[in-house]
Amino acid sequence: MSAAIFHRPILAQNIAKRTLSQKGQSGVFISAPRRTGKSTLINEDIIPVLQAQGAEVIYVDLWSDRSRDPGDLIAQAIREHLQKREGAILRWARLGGLSKVSIAGIQLEIEKVGIGSGKTLAKALTELSDATRAMIVLIVDEAQHAITTDAGASALFALKAARDQLNGSAHHGFRLIATGSNRDKLSLLVQGKDQAFLNAVLFDLEPLGDDYLAWEREQYDGSLKPSLDAMRTAFTAAGHKPESLRKALDDLAFRFDVTAVQVDSVFLALLDNILADAKQGFMRQVNALPPLQATVLTVMAITGVDFAPFRPHTIEMYKEICGTLKQAEVNIDDSSIQYALEALRAKALVWKSARGVYAIEDSQHAIWLRENKR
Ligand SMILES: Nc1ncnc2c1ncn2[C@@H]1O[C@H](COP(=O)(O)OP(=O)(O)OP(=O)(O)O)[C@@H](O)[C@H]1O
Ligand SMILES: [Mg+2]
Repeated sequence: MSAAIFHRPILAQNIAKRTLSQKGQSGVFISAPRRTGKSTLINEDIIPVLQAQGAEVIYVDLWSDRSRDPGDLIAQAIREHLQKREGAILRWARLGGLSKVSIAGIQLEIEKVGIGSGKTLAKALTELSDATRAMIVLIVDEAQHAITTDAGASALFALKAARDQLNGSAHHGFRLIATGSNRDKLSLLVQGKDQAFLNAVLFDLEPLGDDYLAWEREQYDGSLKPSLDAMRTAFTAAGHKPESLRKALDDLAFRFDVTAVQVDSVFLALLDNILADAKQGFMRQVNALPPLQATVLTVMAITGVDFAPFRPHTIEMYKEICGTLKQAEVNIDDSSIQYALEALRAKALVWKSARGVYAIEDSQHAIWLRENKR
């Protein structure tokens, strides 16, 4: 059985309302750190609300298969949704006077839907909108991956074309909800005049709050429960990640020696251990990297959005940090830096846009690397 879910109906209602309103037309972008509940909120709460309001919801997680091109994943999600609706599309086609069209014909049409070839996403989505007479909401989870490949970036522009067409008075509307685990990366999709979703709203998802903590505390079946205050302190320290909190609670349930007076402090100590282990595990991985890769990653963590991999001042920083890691001279030039960046990307430690902007994949990693430098 999967773990129980704390529902956030009011938040979901608000996001759905905003999305479906006129103001949601340019797109709604939601950012929250890793493992803090984005996908859960979308799937458990937002999608049901949107569907209850009559929207056709198409969901795609660009992290579901990292070996696949994000552009393909988007096109596939749309094709799969069209397949589910082939009955409605067939009825609509026949109503439009195409009496000879068959379900096999519709299926063949659906297979042709893609990016840059066959049938465009805009055309396919327009037909879906007309056939179902419903607003289409496409939800792209981990949308920052769309701009890591050219096909993904083209998919975004194809969606923009669909949006502009479907939001015309002849159709029933299109909305895009995109999530991402890093605000800086996500903002690359909505800023800059050549971005497909310019002017979309981008907001930070509020973390799970006291109501969630009270609920989690209620679920806990150990003999002594930590106080809500202690749980709040723990949850904040854990970066609002339910998994770390639950792990600390699981550990607490096996501490049979604890008295009521000690329970909060023991619980917080258990949580600290969990966080320290996570950090240590990551730092071990960093220490096992070739020196230049560890250096580039550290400099990226320190410089953040200003990271400019080949600039003289960045190279000075590499030299300084690399010198503290290794006694022997390490060759630092454009090609060795490029190689290190590519290796870090292949190890999924670093994210790279198709235009060559780099960032640390997991913002928690950046925090740990900076702590380590102090
Ligand atoms: N509302 C909730 N109630 C109970 N557990 C939750 C809730 N939200 C998140 N969690 C738990 O936290 C973990 C992370 O949740 P989720 O996958 O939704 O986060 P995410 O932000 O989408 O993560 P990722 O960055 O990996 O995509 C999961 O184990 C999930 O069960
Ligand atoms: Mg997710």
